[in-house]
Amino acid sequence: MEQYIIKGGKPLVGDVAIGGAKNAALGILAGAIMTDETVVIDNLPNVRDTNTMLAAIQDIGGIVERDGKDPHVVKVNGANINPERVYIDYDYIKKIRASYYLLGALLGKYKKAKVALPGGCNIGSRPIDQHKKGFEALGARVKIEHGMICAEADELVGNHIYFDVVSVGATINTMFAACLAKGKTTLENTAKEPHIVDVANFLNSMGANIKGAGTDLIRIRGVEKLHSSDYSIIPDQIEAGTFMLMAAATRGDVRVNNVIPKHLDALSAKLEEIGARVDEFDDAVRVRVDGRLGHTHVKTLPYPGFPTDMQPQFATLLSVSSGSSIVTESIWENRYKYVGELSRMGANINIEGNTAIINGVEGLTGAAVTVPDLRAGAALVLAGLMAEGYTVVDQIEYIERGYESFEAKLNLLGAHIEKIQFADDKAVQRFKLRVS
Ligand code: UD1
Repeated sequence: MEQYIIKGGKPLVGDVAIGGAKNAALGILAGAIMTDETVVIDNLPNVRDTNTMLAAIQDIGGIVERDGKDPHVVKVNGANINPERVYIDYDYIKKIRASYYLLGALLGKYKKAKVALPGGCNIGSRPIDQHKKGFEALGARVKIEHGMICAEADELVGNHIYFDVVSVGATINTMFAACLAKGKTTLENTAKEPHIVDVANFLNSMGANIKGAGTDLIRIRGVEKLHSSDYSIIPDQIEAGTFMLMAAATRGDVRVNNVIPKHLDALSAKLEEIGARVDEFDDAVRVRVDGRLGHTHVKTLPYPGFPTDMQPQFATLLSVSSGSSIVTESIWENRYKYVGELSRMGANINIEGNTAIINGVEGLTGAAVTVPDLRAGAALVLAGLMAEGYTVVDQIEYIERGYESFEAKLNLLGAHIEKIQFADDKAVQRFKLRVS
């Protein structure tokens, strides 16, 4: 069990390099098993979630080879997967719900798959009705029994599918099955997130024929089989956004490198609206703040709207901005679990249904806090960086699901943050001496 100890109050200054997009990587790794040829994936974030996905792939017979020199390069080969044993265990699903991407990938390739059913999780219930709808429309029989979702088809045949809900997962999963189905599929009301485009580009690089990814109408012409590819994952817009908000929260000046600025537009616009200066470059953004930020209203929406995965970090920043702000969470029903912890640091936030009413306070004070989920964890670190005094953040394994070398990157920007073993008083004393 590890924790972060943070001494707040230091403006973050300097450059930070952003890694590959975790959520794109999860789709791409699953898609990589859809050919019997070897696929090389570059710019892979080396985080818990991607490592869990690789372990799930190995568990069904996929061969995974890490590059000895670069942890961001991996070779995946799905030739040895036994079609009679395409069964993804609950252990993987409990750790990452996105292991259900293997359902679409295996169904497309072997016309059958069984994956443990994802239950609810810390941020909300996780229905899969739209995934089921997509598979069934392509001709699969989908059953839920004994805690598993089982999909099987004699053959998959293209169809027209209109999703009732805009879902990233259902769009990617149906795209997987459809690209190896017979004939043409059109998917309507699809999610438009950058990682949908990245997964589609990856599948196209393997010989798939997918057009329109990034819009709400995707057209897929099924192909017989897919082949090898050498593919580099896009930068992670949520990691980038987190560092942008940390720069703003600490009234610092940070250039966030290796990003696609367009993917950050919703966040950049909100930051500018509350008084931050955001400069865009070809593959970087620079965020500068030199006074107290202002208030705003924001509602999370599917891309290109304001991302739900930035909601906890942005609400935390607003907790010390002047005036009253309103945040509405429209994607997940349980995404304010961090608010109780923030209140213990002095924030004044009231939750009513899916709305947070934030009355900006002058500042936060450090406290011992516990992380409830991945992005809330990043928000609590952000709170610690701007709080007066020391903050100890518990259950950081959630943060490590999606942020690589988090504390190292923050230290390079001048933050005082260290990873310590749970309740290691000596390490705490050493840290306090070092930063005092
Ligand atoms: C993905 C992201 C997650 C992000 C979310 C929304 C990955 C691995 N994870 O999750 O970080 O927070 O998008 O941007 O990419 N829904 C249904 N029926 C379904 C599927 C979804 O009703 O069959 C609902 C969900 O309850 C939710 C909404 O649709 O309210 C969006 O969910 P979805 O886009 O599917 O999220 P994920 O793909 O699970």
